Amino acid sequence: MLDPYWSEWLHLLLRLLHVITAIAWIGASFYFVWLDNSLETPPAWKQKKGIKGDLWAIHGGGFYEVAKYQLAPKQMPKHLHWFKWEAYSTWITGMLLLTLMYYVGASSYLIDPSKTDLGTSAVILIGVLSILGGWGVYEGLCRTPLAHRGWQLGLVCVGLLTALAWALSQVMGDRAAYIHIGALIGTCMAGNVWRSIMPAQRALVAAVARGEAPDPRYGLEAKRRSTHNNYATLPVLLIMLSNHFPMTYAHPDGWAILGALMLIGAWARHFFNLRHHGIVKPWILISAFCAFMALAWWAKPAPIQLPDLGEVHVSDQQAVAIVQERCATCHSPTPSDDIFRVSPGGIFLHDQASILRLIDRIEARSIHTQDMPFLNKTGMTDAERALLAGWIAQLRRSDAP
Ligand code: HEC
Repeated sequence: MLDPYWSEWLHLLLRLLHVITAIAWIGASFYFVWLDNSLETPPAWKQKKGIKGDLWAIHGGGFYEVAKYQLAPKQMPKHLHWFKWEAYSTWITGMLLLTLMYYVGASSYLIDPSKTDLGTSAVILIGVLSILGGWGVYEGLCRTPLAHRGWQLGLVCVGLLTALAWALSQVMGDRAAYIHIGALIGTCMAGNVWRSIMPAQRALVAAVARGEAPDPRYGLEAKRRSTHNNYATLPVLLIMLSNHFPMTYAHPDGWAILGALMLIGAWARHFFNLRHHGIVKPWILISAFCAFMALAWWAKPAPIQLPDLGEVHVSDQQAVAIVQERCATCHSPTPSDDIFRVSPGGIFLHDQASILRLIDRIEARSIHTQDMPFLNKTGMTDAERALLAGWIAQLRRSDAP
């Protein structure tokens, strides 16, 4: 087991690399989609050279003239820039991050003892197989007639992913289930670059080098896969960010929220794809926003049923003692937890003043979403949560004018 201190620094490094490479990948991909959809008819002299569309842009204090060829230039340019390492390095850093956090740190992040008795290796195996198997299923679907019906294929994929999210959440922590779905979609996207888009481009370049007309079939398949990637970007980003928002993954129907977030993300992406073509349909974006808010409203947890304490008065000492026992093992300047040597989230809950300052967050995570203590490692009981809720209600009443 890696020393927790060094593992945190490694984690920071990997996360930084992952975010940077992902920005480079998705940034370039957004730019090329925009470029492709914004090209204008070029003047006659450019058309004679085989240029299909061009555009002018200004950025960073300079003018840029960009041109796209109908097929290919007559002669291969000396330097041709390829875009592939952005995708590969995003995938590699993502997988390393997944391995470090969820597999090496399985006892902290992957295993939720309240879900299954399966051993750690079994759950890791399920996680890895779900990513590889899921990629296989996607590749299979792309070879059926469904591949030519973008909408239907998208809906089938979201349906299958939602079902997988449900299945995974039966055997691993909720957060881990979410991240595996994100990793699976990311794997399909990187796989598209590796297995479909790059080979098509290599065939194109080879044909030009031989002075032949390239087979348009390759280009079409590459275009289809790149469209899939384009629609998948927003859902993937939503899933990655949702890991910071326990009201999504820790919800009893977290898998359904995940499905809804994927649909909303793809729908919002559709607005931008149309807009690049000059078709502006604001109602798509408005309806995506409304769906997002409706989801938030639907997911609002019902007030949880905690043991009824009747009219007991909870003393400050009693409440502080509970938080100190159940939370301060991780959230203190000197945590005693075996994994978290530095308080996660940088918050301290070791004395009354700190507890009072963070009372809203304590209520949110230990009463509302109940995903703290983390995987209930310190074994907080419902009775204790009820006492804490009672104490917070008392504080609120005495604060009221
Ligand atoms: C086993 C260690 C552990 C224990 C015990 C623990 N936490 Fe946490 N806590 C974490 C980790 C890990 C994070 C960061 C990940 C996250 O935010 O989900 C975190 C983050 C937080 C945050 C910061 C994020 C936010 O929502 O503002 C709050 C608040 C919090 N915990 C409250 C509590 C409370 C209240 C308790 C006790 C009832 C508790 N924690 C017990 C590990 C722990």
